[in-house]
Amino acid sequence: MSIQSAIVIGSGTMGRGIAQVAATAGLTTFMYDQNAEQVKSAQGAIEKSLNKLVEKGKLPGETAEAAKNNLKPISSLNDADFSKVGIAIEAIFENFDAKKALYADLTSKLSADAILASNTSSISITKLAAATDRPQRFIGMHFFNPVPLMSLVEVIRGIDTADATVETVESLAKQMGKNPLRCNDMPGFVSNRVLMPLINEAAFALMEGVADAPTIDEIMKQGCNFPMGPLTLADFIGVDVCLNIMEVLHRDLGDPKFRPCPLLRKMVDAGHMGRKSGKGFHDYAG
Ligand code: CAA
Repeated sequence: MSIQSAIVIGSGTMGRGIAQVAATAGLTTFMYDQNAEQVKSAQGAIEKSLNKLVEKGKLPGETAEAAKNNLKPISSLNDADFSKVGIAIEAIFENFDAKKALYADLTSKLSADAILASNTSSISITKLAAATDRPQRFIGMHFFNPVPLMSLVEVIRGIDTADATVETVESLAKQMGKNPLRCNDMPGFVSNRVLMPLINEAAFALMEGVADAPTIDEIMKQGCNFPMGPLTLADFIGVDVCLNIMEVLHRDLGDPKFRPCPLLRKMVDAGHMGRKSGKGFHDYAG
C-alpha cells in the first residue's frame, strides 16, 4: 500500500521532526497538537530547519518549499482530511492512558485500513496495539533525535502486527530517507535497551566521583568516537526521559542491573532536565 498522506500527533521535539521528514518525502502531512501555540511554534521550527538544510546544500530549495506546502498544522483533529490519511504517527508524551484515550478518538476518524504507528520509546507495542481497534495495523515506528539528521527508524512489530503493515512502514521510512531496521517488542527495543544503561552508568560514574561531567563526556568522545558524550546526550534527550526509560527497563525486565542511578532521580526532582530546562549535567543558561 502506498501512502500519500499522514497525520502526526504531537508537535514536540519528536513530532515536529517526524512531520518534517514526512512532508519532505512528499506526503500531505497534518501535524496535530491540541496546543495551538505549540503547533505554530513547531511549524516555525520546521521551516527554520528546512532553510538550514538548504543553506548547507543538504536539501534542494524546491524540495524544502514543497515540504512547507505539504505541512498542514492543525489544532483540532476535525481539520484533517482523514479520507486520504494512510498512516497516523503518534508522538505524544509517554503515558499509556493518554495514548489509549487519543487512539479511541483517532480510530473513530481514521479509515479502517489506515495504519496507526507509535513513536514510543518505552511502552510495549503489543499493549498499545491491544488498546486499539486495529492490532494488525498497529506498529512501532521509533525515530531518533534530531529526526531530520538521524538515519535510523527502529520498526517494532507487536504480537499481532501483520506482515503487510511492517512492509508498508518500511517502505514509507525509506521514502522519508530513513533506514528502517526491524526488532521485536521487548522493553527498550534495541536502541534504549543498550543506550540507556550506558547513560545510567555514566551518571553512576559522576555520582561516585570517578570524574567530572565534562571529563566523562570527553573520555567517551575521544576514546570511543561517540559524537556526543553520554551526559551531553542525556541532556539532549531529557534527563526525565532517560529516568523514565530506566524505570521501564528495571520494572519490565525485573533485572537489578537496570536500576536507575539515584542521581538521575535527584536531578529530575530538582527540575534539572537537561537542555530543555537550561540545566542538566551541563549548564545551558544563555
Ligand atoms: N534540522 C536542521 N539542522 C539541524 C537540526 C535540525 N533538526 N538539528 C541540528 N541541526 C544542525 C545544527 O544547527 C548544526 O548546525 P551548524 O553546523 O550550522 O551549527 C548541525 O546540525 C550540527 O552539526 P555539528 O557539527 O554540531 O554536529 P554533527 O553534524 O557532527 O552531528 C548530531 C550532530 C547528528 C546531532 C550528532 O551530534 C549526533 O549524532 N549526536 C547523537 C545523537 C543521538 O544519539 N541521538 C539519539 C538520541 S536517542 C533517541 O532519540 C531515542 C530515544 O528514544 C531516547
